Amino acid sequence: MEQTQASAPGKIILFGEHAVVYGQPAIAAPVTQVRATVTIANSEPAGVRLIAPDLGKAYWLTEAQEHDPLARAVRLVEEATGSTLSQMTVTVRSTIPIASGLGSGAATAAALIRALTRHLSRQDLASDEQVCALAYEVEKIHHGTPSGIDNTVVAYEQPVYFVRQEPKNLIEPFAIAAPLHLLIADTGVRSATRHVVGDVRRQWQAERARFEEMFAACGRIAQAARTALEAGDVMELGALMDENQQWLEAMTVSSAELEKLIATARTAGALGAKLSGAGRGGNMIALVTPETQTSVRQALIKAGAFDVFASTVE
Ligand code: PMV
Repeated sequence: MEQTQASAPGKIILFGEHAVVYGQPAIAAPVTQVRATVTIANSEPAGVRLIAPDLGKAYWLTEAQEHDPLARAVRLVEEATGSTLSQMTVTVRSTIPIASGLGSGAATAAALIRALTRHLSRQDLASDEQVCALAYEVEKIHHGTPSGIDNTVVAYEQPVYFVRQEPKNLIEPFAIAAPLHLLIADTGVRSATRHVVGDVRRQWQAERARFEEMFAACGRIAQAARTALEAGDVMELGALMDENQQWLEAMTVSSAELEKLIATARTAGALGAKLSGAGRGGNMIALVTPETQTSVRQALIKAGAFDVFASTVE
């Protein structure tokens, strides 16, 4: 049986979440320890069968609900290739936790689009740029008004400096000078990006000047962070993470659970810590060194982190 497989990593936003929706620069990095993997296989029966064994789901494309992200991704590939797919099974597996700011939706979409376009021998549509563009269309289901940073970092699988702009987003994958040792700790609180982004929008509409100042401050932090990443200046990066967290708190997207873990990490020796992603739950990230990693991790677990894993961004 002919099979094609592709995968995409999880992601974290290092700097600039929320402000990125309003055109400010942000930096995201892939988290390669967790991945979404999609396998396409030719099969006998007519139609496209969508299977997500981890979620205990299996259904036909024609039966999919209106906002089903897997079905949307398949339809986008059908549109892009001008074909109607049939006699195919699409199996999706993922080790990326759902709704916790690690980009599971974007990674699943990118892996599916890459696997399917390769399976159809459409290498022209399987490029990072094309996968990024199609995955963005799927992201709209999850996010409402996505900035595009999630689909970009998972499609390029490299640290990326990103600015949402017309007619084309600025996408600059870049090399970082020294590996970043991060701990990613889950509050265990699920938070829907769409709701948090919508709430920030309402606050921005009510208090435009104040919010735009905060977004601009986050943008300046992201710019400074890029310089620090390219110079391997981890002390500066830690300070910038703390500063970014203050602005996120002012935007009301932090939470008591996040702040408890952030304070714990700093006290235990992290160089800096902040929430990552939409906030109000999900994950926080702490910048550590190989020397402090174990003690910070233990402190986070003791403070009630749901799950803590180490990720090195290189
Ligand atoms: O919740 P996440 O990790 O998918 O991140 C959302 C990032 C935001 O900046 C809040 C929204 C966006 O579309 O960029």
